[in-house]
Amino acid sequence: MNDSNNLLLELSEVARSYPEPAGRIPVLTGIDLSVKSGEWVAVTGPSGSGKTTLLNLIALLDTPDCGSIKLNGREVARLPEDRAAELRSRQIGMVFQLHHLLPQCSALENVLLPTIPAKIDGQTALERARSLLCRIGLESRMNHFPGQLSGGECQRVAVARALINSPSLLLADEPTGALDLHATDALLELLAGFHRDGMTILMVTHSERAAAAAQRRYVLGSGKLVKA
Ligand SMILES: Nc1ncnc2c1ncn2[C@@H]1O[C@H](COP(=O)(O)OP(=O)(O)OP(=O)(O)O)[C@@H](O)[C@H]1O
Ligand SMILES: [Mg+2]
Repeated sequence: MNDSNNLLLELSEVARSYPEPAGRIPVLTGIDLSVKSGEWVAVTGPSGSGKTTLLNLIALLDTPDCGSIKLNGREVARLPEDRAAELRSRQIGMVFQLHHLLPQCSALENVLLPTIPAKIDGQTALERARSLLCRIGLESRMNHFPGQLSGGECQRVAVARALINSPSLLLADEPTGALDLHATDALLELLAGFHRDGMTILMVTHSERAAAAAQRRYVLGSGKLVKA
């Protein structure tokens, strides 16, 4: 950790627009956001307000037009792709609205996938994957394929996959968007458990129920974040 106030993520004046035939369409126009290590922050906002655009920038999957993104005090907004990929693989876990598990791989294999580019020793990776699958309540279904699991179970596997490399930051894009009430609560309880253990979570969501589980809330609108 770089400084005394424990800032894990710091965005300053981040802007992103997309090119359109009629000119560039501004989506994010000046995002300021600070997340301390161990916090759980939720961002809500209407469809099309730029929530996924924001998470993609923080996940180093996209580059802002201008502004600064610091992770652990280090500027990361404009890293060469190989260094961004390496940092993403070690420091950032990501969960999407639709779990994006590989259908031809078992739950265990899906959770193990991110350990390959991260070059984690095979036995260590296997032990950690098994332990995470137990933690998410799927100890008896590790060898099932996504098609044999419920939507809620698949999403819990996606959380385990996001956490397998022990990232500093868990990003979640509408993690409960495709789930019913029961599965939503199970997923939120799971996230709450990892948060209690110290995980830093930044989640974007339409769900009032999901946002209420976070410690701090922001609303994204007109290209800016405001405290809820
Ligand atoms: N690659 C792209 N090229 C052009 N426009 C894009 C691109 N990605 C997103 N947009 C536009 O940027 C705006 C914000 O999109 P984004 O996906 O970030 O919204 P969102 O808040 O995540 O919406 P939702 O709640 O529906 O997921 C939308 O108007 C969208 O059409
Ligand atoms: Mg989105």
